[in-house]
Amino acid sequence: MFSLKNVEFWYEKNIPILKDINLNIKEKEISIIMGENGCGKSTLLMLLKGINKVSKGEFFFKNKNICYKKNEKRKLIESVGYIFQDPDIQLIGPDVESDIEFGPLNMEWSDEKVKAKSQEAMEMCDILHLKSKIPQMLSYGEKRRVAIAGVLAMDPEAIIFDEPTTWLDPYQQKKLKNMLIELKNTGRTIVLSTHDVNFAKELNGTYIFIKRGEIVKEGGIELFQDEELLDYCRLR
Ligand SMILES: Nc1ncnc2c1ncn2[C@@H]1O[C@H](COP(=O)(O)OP(=O)(O)OP(=O)(O)O)[C@@H](O)[C@H]1O
Ligand SMILES: [Mg+2]
Repeated sequence: MFSLKNVEFWYEKNIPILKDINLNIKEKEISIIMGENGCGKSTLLMLLKGINKVSKGEFFFKNKNICYKKNEKRKLIESVGYIFQDPDIQLIGPDVESDIEFGPLNMEWSDEKVKAKSQEAMEMCDILHLKSKIPQMLSYGEKRRVAIAGVLAMDPEAIIFDEPTTWLDPYQQKKLKNMLIELKNTGRTIVLSTHDVNFAKELNGTYIFIKRGEIVKEGGIELFQDEELLDYCRLR
């Protein structure tokens, strides 16, 4: 679904944040980016969504080399949902329901489909009771769930979650875990970042360990037995 070849990325010239990234994110799987604060998880996820442009190397989406032309960016916008680490920059509607409907309304769908998809997403995220509230007034755990619902309502084939467990209580974390597995089982490609090892392990996906902007190791759940790797990546 996503492929990065010899990719480098810098925000400021000569200060590389991501170095020599070679990565293939498979379709219909859960891929989990793991690493300490500041190692480049969010930067990498924003490359996959096309928010960050690769500074060097090549980026492919569904085998198409992305050169950031208008139609290519449009494809990324439509096909890839993105839940930001900070829900405050994601929520824009005057109330929760219109916030959720904002994305679907831009999809050239019928009014019935917009309503149905928004309703379904609100049910999945347990926020129906919040639908007439002002997003800015919600608790952080509630904001996180509204942000997720807003993306689910657009029914994208790939969904990127940046630190989705932050602010969620244990009950909501468990619901999120089940939702991620369900989304995968119904054919969606999921990419997420976290430094929560316990949460990550339960997803049984492909793990990509990053340290100072470089991929250290990639593999399955067996990697969590490698204590040296966890120590090196400052995870527990
Ligand atoms: N807009 C920016 N301009 C310059 N440097 C930036 C910018 N955004 C992030 N950085 C730097 O890039 C590095 C990687 O940041 P990033 O947000 O990708 O880390 P992260 O792994 O997501 O961390 P966290 O676990 O804290 O979310 C950090 O050193 C950060 O200071
Ligand atoms: Mg981050």
